[in-house]
Amino acid sequence: MNNLLKTYKFSNFEVVKGSGCYLYTSNKKKLLDFSAGVAVNSLGYNHPIVKNSLQAQIKTGITHLSGSQIHEFKIKLSKVLSNNSNKGDVFFSNSGAESIEAALKIARNYGSKKGKDEIIAMTSSFHGRTIGALSVGSNKKYKSNIGPVPGKVKFCKFNDVSHLRKLVNKKTVAIIIEFVQGDGGINICSKNFAKAIKETCKNKKILLIGDEIQGGIGRTGKIFAYKHYGVNPDIITSAKGLGSGIPIGATIVKKYISKIISTGFHGSTFGGGMLQTRISYNVFKTINTKRFLNKVLINANLLSSLIKKMHHLHNDKIVDTRCLGLMAGIEFKNNQIASNTYEKMSKNGLISTLIQGNIIRLTPPLIVSSEEIKKAIKIITRSL
Ligand SMILES: Cc1ncc(COP(=O)(O)O)c(C=O)c1O
Repeated sequence: MNNLLKTYKFSNFEVVKGSGCYLYTSNKKKLLDFSAGVAVNSLGYNHPIVKNSLQAQIKTGITHLSGSQIHEFKIKLSKVLSNNSNKGDVFFSNSGAESIEAALKIARNYGSKKGKDEIIAMTSSFHGRTIGALSVGSNKKYKSNIGPVPGKVKFCKFNDVSHLRKLVNKKTVAIIIEFVQGDGGINICSKNFAKAIKETCKNKKILLIGDEIQGGIGRTGKIFAYKHYGVNPDIITSAKGLGSGIPIGATIVKKYISKIISTGFHGSTFGGGMLQTRISYNVFKTINTKRFLNKVLINANLLSSLIKKMHHLHNDKIVDTRCLGLMAGIEFKNNQIASNTYEKMSKNGLISTLIQGNIIRLTPPLIVSSEEIKKAIKIITRSL
């Protein structure tokens, strides 16, 4: 018994420490973590970059500064995020959903000056659980019994070019998309759909919002997932892996949009604090190197080929597998097989996430080794 609101199905073990890709429980079990706190702990556990940043922060004596106060790491992090994406201005917050809220407000504000107020989101999308973020998330289960969420949102069938063309009109202000849908089941945007979005946005002067909260910060082998597609979103949202375990959100806004934003338009008490930005800056610099990202790609290829092999050998239980970078989804024939496998994997020492009832998602720390990937596949196979 505990006093936690039952918003989660809680684990039946208690975690006491972590190191690399492993978590250790109070009853001395060692668990290989292929969830990484749901695609958050990009550098795994006990990483020297995170530890040293925490220690350096302690020396300043500062835990919090107001949003208006300037400090070194707020400036540095905004610069690297901007220089490595759409060259925009950055708003810092504390989570993915908050970075989406900022993106939606900014897009709607931009549209209000032009008489545009409709947003196109995707089917099987997920952008967070605040009321605004739920308005662009397609999963009805997440928004039932809470009354209306903000309106003027249309849902385009993911990867369906002709549906996109049908939905766009002169009122459309923005299209929001995860280039790899995380919660929706590791659904990967097709090159053709991305091209159609790019052309539509350009021709109809529609803003493109790229949700990089789960797929960004090296997860797909590029610093942002959109970079696989030759697009350049007007607004980019980031969180999760950006802090490698420290809560942070960032919304990166192209200058032609940010220039109309005035003081007081938006804010966040904790956003852009010295602790979060120091850690995130050092995490970003660590991940955003050719060497690091190449290693992610090499390990991603291994993960993808082993998962495909497993699918081939067990196609009585597995119906599909999808991977981009170190983001993988194993889709099972039904919910029962998926949940049995998921439970057994956990008993056999591998942590993952179960999504949509029938899909096991793997998002290991980006520092995962080829041996750990092989070990994970062995555990999954044994758990089938
Ligand atoms: C693509 C995407 N967007 C937004 C969110 C919401 O992020 P948070 O839970 O930090 O609010 C998530 C979280 O899973 C996500 O995967």
